[in-house]
Amino acid sequence: MRTLILVLILALSAAIALAHGDEEHDDDDVEEVKIGEVAVPENPTYHEHARPIIEARCVACHSDGQIAAYAPLTDPQDVVFFADDIKFHVVNGIMPPWMPSRANLPLKNDRSLSDEEIATIAAWVDAGAAMGDSHDYAPSATDRFDLVEVRADLTLQLEEPYEPDPDVLDDYRCFALPLEIEAPQFITGYEFIPDVAEMAHHNILYLFDETADRVIQRRNYADGRPGWSCYGGPGLAVGGEGIGGWAPGASPVLFPQGAGFLIRPGQHIVVEMHYNLWTARQPDQSRIILQLESAESELTELMNISLAAPVEIPCPTGLEGPQCERGAAIERVAELYGEDARYTPDYLLRECGQRLADYAANTGENAIGYCDYPITKSLTLYSVSGHMHELGRSFRMELNPDSEDSLLLLDIPRWDFHWQDQYYFVEPLEVSYGDVLRMECAWDNSLSDDPRYVVWGEGTADEMCFGSLLALKP
Ligand code: HEC
Repeated sequence: MRTLILVLILALSAAIALAHGDEEHDDDDVEEVKIGEVAVPENPTYHEHARPIIEARCVACHSDGQIAAYAPLTDPQDVVFFADDIKFHVVNGIMPPWMPSRANLPLKNDRSLSDEEIATIAAWVDAGAAMGDSHDYAPSATDRFDLVEVRADLTLQLEEPYEPDPDVLDDYRCFALPLEIEAPQFITGYEFIPDVAEMAHHNILYLFDETADRVIQRRNYADGRPGWSCYGGPGLAVGGEGIGGWAPGASPVLFPQGAGFLIRPGQHIVVEMHYNLWTARQPDQSRIILQLESAESELTELMNISLAAPVEIPCPTGLEGPQCERGAAIERVAELYGEDARYTPDYLLRECGQRLADYAANTGENAIGYCDYPITKSLTLYSVSGHMHELGRSFRMELNPDSEDSLLLLDIPRWDFHWQDQYYFVEPLEVSYGDVLRMECAWDNSLSDDPRYVVWGEGTADEMCFGSLLALKP
């Protein structure tokens, strides 16, 4: 039996309030309380009410061998043990981890709960987390969220364990992994398997052809250790193609049916690893699993489009000193990451047709960076991802902003560095000449342990506003 009651749902409602306009950037930390009318059961039990939701929405991660195995939700006793914790995480929108707002274009593998599911869990816990009768259990009608499986047709692994640079806290290292195949193939999916998860910050995968061989040979082991140091990209002088990446919480990737990245014998995948060495420092020998299909299978080729926007983040209000000067920030990145890094901040402004004065309204607590990209030819888009570091507050990729037919390709109102992912649209998105894509990042410099003027840079103490789109090659 169900009754109609009023429930408070903190959940993702801040997301809805943030869907439009720039003026809301300053309040996205404040949880808005939404009062909604939702039907909840009168005497909720685990088996009849909570279990169908937990099995459909939680156990894919909260079970043996999975990412959250330390807090298993498979056994009724465990679920009851975690009941208060479960309510807290669910009501506050922390679990299941799903960052995009409800205003986002529909995305695959949407892990979020409906208001009714949230209210049911809360009501069950509030009523004392009763067990009930296992005969009352019936699987949820909603599809169980599953982690996709990637077939291991080819496994690439670092040649030998890499010992992180003992002198740094953020180690960027590139490794060239030869593609040992006999004939051309399509990559139709991949999975990155970190060897030491605690220090795997994120990575980017590039595809290089034979023209890169000589440079790779020169750079590999040049300092006596596997791979080479690579801030801001593989730096091989010849262009490579981005084919994907990984960050904590990312799911394995299967490319859209009928499409893949074409690879040939003799090519390399270069993995640009970012190791963050605050908590762990161990030899790493991570692996990448590739799912392949023969090039004769007539798949369509995929490509990745990378987007970057300016990062101009002043010091928090009230803080003054040389560390708050933009010039000092630029000197700092040049010193840390090499001369190229010196030119990046101005390059980004120029590429986006902007001037520094356009960011005069940025404050330390509320700094934005954005860029408009006019679409010049028809494209089919499959997926989107955004990347910032730990000062990030919100990320948005919007098609035709300020117009009636605007679409939110990716709307992350509460940025969480630990849950970055590549998001696939439920329906591929067609864009064409005349459309404009806007990427916009917002940061809060008061989140920094060591606040100073922040510009684009590779370390976790620097910031980025980076996005990528997976598209069919036109
Ligand atoms: C995609 C994987 C995933 C899914 C789905 C997921 N969780 Fe989690 N959960 C995690 C991870 C990983 C953590 C560890 C903390 C973190 O990384 O945010 C966690 C932490 C938790 C915690 C905190 C445990 C503790 O005391 O430390 C609770 C409670 C929780 N999840 C409940 C749930 C519930 C309830 C659901 C379903 C409604 C759910 N989770 C769905 C991955 C997941």
